[in-house]
Amino acid sequence: MSGRFISFEGIDGCGKSTQAAMLVEYLGKRDIAVEHTREPGGTPVGEGIRDALLASGSVTPMAEAHLFAAARAELVAKVISPALAAGRWIVCDRFIDSSLTYQGVARGLGIDAIWELNRGAIGECLPDVTVLLAISVDEAARRRGTEPDRIEREGRDFQLRVVDGYATLAERFPERIVPVDASDGVDVVHRRVVEAVGA
Ligand code: TYD
Repeated sequence: MSGRFISFEGIDGCGKSTQAAMLVEYLGKRDIAVEHTREPGGTPVGEGIRDALLASGSVTPMAEAHLFAAARAELVAKVISPALAAGRWIVCDRFIDSSLTYQGVARGLGIDAIWELNRGAIGECLPDVTVLLAISVDEAARRRGTEPDRIEREGRDFQLRVVDGYATLAERFPERIVPVDASDGVDVVHRRVVEAVGA
């Protein structure tokens, strides 16, 4: 039996990592075999790409898009597909929708161009459910405590474009993307996530 693939999406500071970890714990308690991974990263090559991408310095948008896609190809081949084939669930912090909105919309490369680039990297491997944690840019900025990485330093207008991109994607893929109001406390949002995933 094939496992289920759940991805989490949202702007920086929306609480994705916390909610993904809470879902993994919840599934584990229900004796569901689950692996938690993240993008970019999740494999040795992917973690190397992550360090290169999030460090300071400039990267052209097209190079950035290819590096995210390369990390994703590695993660799908080495982690996600084998886990699903073995019947395990995958909970992934970010997946293709991050590239579609950050590189496709916010960087202006176009959703269709980024989709094509990534189809080669992921084949038929798409999430069964994508939880889109919806929160305002200002609230997310308040929540972000740590030192911002290169992409987070892009500023408010960039984050607003990312939000617009996610809204477009939610309209384009309604069968897969479930928007969840993430403006409340972690436990309330967790209950919404469990409902969205149907676990
Ligand atoms: P990360 O520290 O994972 O951010 P967060 O904790 O908010 O998930 O950094 C990932 C950054 O990389 C984030 O700003 C979004 C960006 N990103 C892209 O631009 N494109 C992508 O395809 C992915 C996966 C991430």
